Amino acid sequence: MDDTKPTTDPSTVTPLGLLADKVAFITGAGRGIGAAAARLFAREGARVLLAARTEAQLKAVAEEIRAAGGTAEYVVCDLADAAGVRAAVDRAVHLYGRLDIAFNNGATIQRPGPLDQMPEADFDHVYEVNLKGVWRAMIAEIAAIRTTAGTGAIVNNSSVGSLMGNPELPVYGAMKRALNSLTESAAVTYGPEGIRVNAIAPGNTPTEMIRTWEAESPGLQERLTAHTPLRRAADPQEIAQAAAWLLSDRSSYVTGTVLRVDGGARA
Ligand SMILES: NC(=O)c1ccc[n+]([C@@H]2O[C@H](COP(=O)([O-])OP(=O)(O)OC[C@H]3O[C@@H](n4cnc5c(N)ncnc54)[C@H](OP(=O)(O)O)[C@@H]3O)[C@@H](O)[C@H]2O)c1
Repeated sequence: MDDTKPTTDPSTVTPLGLLADKVAFITGAGRGIGAAAARLFAREGARVLLAARTEAQLKAVAEEIRAAGGTAEYVVCDLADAAGVRAAVDRAVHLYGRLDIAFNNGATIQRPGPLDQMPEADFDHVYEVNLKGVWRAMIAEIAAIRTTAGTGAIVNNSSVGSLMGNPELPVYGAMKRALNSLTESAAVTYGPEGIRVNAIAPGNTPTEMIRTWEAESPGLQERLTAHTPLRRAADPQEIAQAAAWLLSDRSSYVTGTVLRVDGGARA
């Protein structure tokens, strides 16, 4: 047996698109980084299934992708609902016959404030969606990849806020740090069967999530920009590009990493 043989051969990657012929499942795809990822993955040749709770947003993004010549469908799904998450992943297999890659991007933000002021119910909600929701999705995705494509890749959307103390978003930060651990554990567990699992840790990216935070924390954008060596926020597409690469065969020897996409904020 040749121990150095990659499970996917990067030299055979089609030049037509980074994700050509792949079926992709994307959570939180109705807006923000997830919508940018859905558009990009489709442009790169993937057939995409978009998931989130707000049907109008999913429908609009899917229609936009189809109008541009891509292949996109959507499924309404709450990450806090185990059966719904399983059904959403199964829908990808039902629609497209297989699952190759998944971007677990959907998440909620907590109300900013010190950890002693957070109601227990809010803690539980962030846990349900941002950690347990991704765990649920990964279980369903691994099963679907295993029984269809055989090998594949998963990227979880963490945060640069998982890598440091996070006084304004302490529980959000804690769940994202736990997600890094889950990512590494999954990479070790499923690596032997050719399923790669990585995370990205984005920095400041103006989306509804950041606008929600800024509403409670005026001047947030200026503070974040001042601490970012590139001196600007990210465009959601720039975050999606990192996820696309990690999901593609071009990163065939990368697994178990948490890739900062933060303009150097943690350098
Ligand atoms: N923006 C940043 O600066 C930044 C930085 C670091 C990390 N991130 C991470 O990037 C990811 C995307 O965030 P974003 O900035 O693009 O925020 P966003 O615009 O608020 O998008 C969040 C997405 O997640 C979905 N979502 C939220 N709760 C859900 C639930 N219970 N079930 C299913 N879907 C749910 C939302 O759709 P519905 O509400 O319709 O369900 C939406 O599509 C998140 O994981 C976030 O933690 C963002």
